[in-house]
Amino acid sequence: MKILGIETSCDETAAAVVEDGRRVLSNVIASQIALHAKTGGVVPEVAAREHVMKILPVIDEALKVAACTLKNRDFGLSDIDAIAVTKGPGLISSLIIGTETASVLSCVGGIPLIEVHHILGHVYSNWLSIADEIEFPVLVLTVSGGHNELILMRDHGKFEVLGETLDDAAGEAFDKVARLLDLGYPGGPKISKIAVSGDREAYNLPRAWLDKNSLNFSFSGLKTAVLDMIKKQNFKKGKMPKKFRQDIAASFQEAVCEVLAEKLFRAYKKFPDVKELHLAGGVSANLRLRQSIAEKIANENIKIKFRYPQDVSFCTDNAAMIGAAGYYLALKNIKRYKKNTNVIPSASFKIF
Ligand code: KG4
Ligand code: ZN
Repeated sequence: MKILGIETSCDETAAAVVEDGRRVLSNVIASQIALHAKTGGVVPEVAAREHVMKILPVIDEALKVAACTLKNRDFGLSDIDAIAVTKGPGLISSLIIGTETASVLSCVGGIPLIEVHHILGHVYSNWLSIADEIEFPVLVLTVSGGHNELILMRDHGKFEVLGETLDDAAGEAFDKVARLLDLGYPGGPKISKIAVSGDREAYNLPRAWLDKNSLNFSFSGLKTAVLDMIKKQNFKKGKMPKKFRQDIAASFQEAVCEVLAEKLFRAYKKFPDVKELHLAGGVSANLRLRQSIAEKIANENIKIKFRYPQDVSFCTDNAAMIGAAGYYLALKNIKRYKKNTNVIPSASFKIF
């Protein structure tokens, strides 16, 4: 089954064609990073305007690369079996460009429309381009700019949120600290780049463990601690030394990674029948985070499969993950649709 995925929840206009929830036939992303770098963050109206300009060319490109056409399914001409689109959460003015476009294509083409929760999309990014089978139950740590969750996934469609952030998400903390260090937007990749040359033990920054059994996260105190540390130095504007920046970046990154890895293991200890640990979302691109989790697995001598997205473009927002999630949602409902091939369905194919 070929699914056209569409994602416009924040600042990436993305479309992809994914076959059977795994094979990525195309994955086109028009990033707005350069545009938002000027303002140091995403301005919703600016993002929405850019989505309007990019959405159709991006969809065209995704179909072209995948060698697919999007004509009326009931005349047997479309190669696409369903369209999956991010319904939310995200910036409403951005989301609406993707959902409206998907609705129109669905109505005109008579192609089922699947609405996908953005975080469910991130969860399924670990299904993309893998050759083996994922074994349930799976513990998923989703770490992004807008969300931070620990999810126990017992099967497709069976999710339990074990913990979430009480304030800032991990990616948001990276972005805010990068701004304090005058590194620009988006902060995560910039901090991880300079952290390589820094000393991660240079500054003793706080770790918010919360109470002993808590699987929730909190990163706003850490961000404030970095701000206090910078203020104490009293550097003149624009004169923050390179070494200081590198050391703060490394120490900050270490504090975030330590908490994320530790909480993932706390959850694992509560559910020892878990077969796999998954990392997903923009921050899953962070090499130190991957390393911290791998080190913990090695130190504790646990036999468990640890996955993160196969390609770095599957970590940050993309439409391939939406296509993959859409496939597993569609599996439950597609038979019903196929029995009535004469009926052009309404624009709704909701399972979630
Ligand atoms: O998943 P995503 O693209 O968007 C949301 O759903 O929020 O995640 C974006 C976040 C940003 O905060 C960005 O700074 C962070 O992911 N990020 C990273 C890295 N690459 C992206 N954070 C740490 N290290 C990275 N290498
Ligand atoms: Zn995301």
